[in-house]
Amino acid sequence: MKPLCRAFRSMTIRAKFARVLRGVHVKRAAATLATVLCATALLNAPLMRDAQAAGDNPPTATDTRPAIVIRGEYLARAGDCVACHTAPRGKMFGGGLAMETPFGTLYSPNISPDVQYGIGTWSADAFFNMMRTGKSPDGKLIYPAMPIAAYTKVTREDSDAIFAYLKSVPPVHQPNRPQDLRFPFNHRDLLLGWRSLYFREGEFKPNPAQSAEWNRGAYLVEGLGHCSMCHTKINMLGGSSRDKQFAGGLIPVQNWYAPSLTSDKDGGLGDWSIKDIVDLLQAGISDRGAVYGPMAEVTYHSLQYLSDADVKAMAVYLKTLPDNDPGRKSGPTARTDTPVFAAGARIYADKCASCHGAKGEGQPQHYPPLAGNQSIEMDSAVNPIRIVLNGGFPPGTRRNPEPYGMPPFAQELNDVDAAAVVTYIRTAWGNHGLPVTAKQVNELRNAPLH
Ligand code: HEC
Ligand code: HEC
Ligand code: HEC
Repeated sequence: MKPLCRAFRSMTIRAKFARVLRGVHVKRAAATLATVLCATALLNAPLMRDAQAAGDNPPTATDTRPAIVIRGEYLARAGDCVACHTAPRGKMFGGGLAMETPFGTLYSPNISPDVQYGIGTWSADAFFNMMRTGKSPDGKLIYPAMPIAAYTKVTREDSDAIFAYLKSVPPVHQPNRPQDLRFPFNHRDLLLGWRSLYFREGEFKPNPAQSAEWNRGAYLVEGLGHCSMCHTKINMLGGSSRDKQFAGGLIPVQNWYAPSLTSDKDGGLGDWSIKDIVDLLQAGISDRGAVYGPMAEVTYHSLQYLSDADVKAMAVYLKTLPDNDPGRKSGPTARTDTPVFAAGARIYADKCASCHGAKGEGQPQHYPPLAGNQSIEMDSAVNPIRIVLNGGFPPGTRRNPEPYGMPPFAQELNDVDAAAVVTYIRTAWGNHGLPVTAKQVNELRNAPLH
């Protein structure tokens, strides 16, 4: 079972990755530079690697490294540095991950301690200055594909620990690939405009009215975790307004919807318990749903390694996020007496009920419930459509090392049938999602290859 499971996992993931790249070529000709940069920023969907591959240190019996290095490794995981700074099958922190945009390709740089090509000559001051101000030691402005708007909140102490860790890993003697953005997007000076609108330099300020736990969670979510990079809607200037923070948004280019994390009872976490949130983030599965798409990679590379206390602190903070964006609440359910609903019900009974239950109750935690599952009822239907077409596996995590998967239905179901079954799960059992059309399915199926 194990090798089979692993093979299928990497197959699915490979397919997913190909699809991400395919999605990249969506024409967004009208988009501004900033949008591109932000889209790029969000493109942090590197290939998930098998546990042995670069990026995962096998646990050693006794860790003899200095405490600051161990702490730095932990914090680097909280920041998910490895996901962007390691190319698929590349050496850890050697950079070279291609982040494609319609305007060219950005490559993540080498941040290993190599003296010639990495950050081997940087001082802790220079590194901290980069984290805080988003500028390289030579004064070069860093593209926001690096989550500088979040990392600026990191404390000096934590920055020093991350730096000590980065200095301790094996140097990778591999030159950086030059950024390949087309004119005029290759001009870093244009970033001055973006920065004046959307970059607020400064360390995280604890809120004295809140508990230490809440403040720890806020620090991790807003800072190293850079959660708002995906979970906030991006405007045409590649920025987002403060009151829309964490209210959810479609990830440009990648075409996945990152749901609201506010207390919104519709798409948000208002109904989730702390335990549900902790399970989802850390194990990748929960009584409410499982992670997939780009979120599976966040859990895989980053969140599964965080301590129980830190993940709980994040959940405590998330539970207090205000809902500033009411949107469509638990409105009336769509009509369920249509032929499409009936067709969907038949397909569901035939192909889905064995895992997700006759009434959508699921078999928690391995097979997520679909009844009352906000992430499939949201206005945006891209997630349920894509998971039905592509299937998926939650990531293998320490708490869930052998995840159960969902088979892809892209071959078995044509656009009309896939739309019917997605319409069914969005509207059955009192779910209040809206119906989807065959065209919506087709658009996600047929994203152009190149
Ligand atoms: C979402 C992807 C992403 C994540 C996560 C990320 N980086 Fe980056 N980083 C980039 C990209 C892309 C650049 C290059 C930007 C540019 O060319 O202006 C970069 C640039 C850098 C640089 C500047 C290197 C140089 O030679 O100028 C350093 C240092 C760095 N990152 C460290 C980190 C650390 C430490 C973390 C984790 C705490 C991290 N990065 C997380 C994408 C990312
Ligand atoms: C073999 C068991 C199995 C079958 C059959 C199956 N699924 Fe799934 N489904 C899963 C698993 C496991 C996940 C979690 C996948 C992940 O996290 O990548 C899942 C996830 C989902 C999700 C996302 C749930 C969430 O939390 O957001 C939806 C929607 C879904 N399935 C719909 C369907 C539909 C519709 C069918 C039939 C066409 C179907 N599934 C058939 C096992 C199955
Ligand atoms: C690379 C983009 C990305 C980043 C970064 C990211 N997320 Fe997500 N997240 C998503 C997407 C896409 C989904 C929807 C798919 C799913 O449910 O797994 C999601 C789903 C979730 C969900 C489930 C919500 C629901 O209603 O089902 C939670 C909770 C969550 N993310 C929390 C976080 C936290 C906390 C962080 C920061 C540590 C974070 N995310 C960082 C993209 C991202």
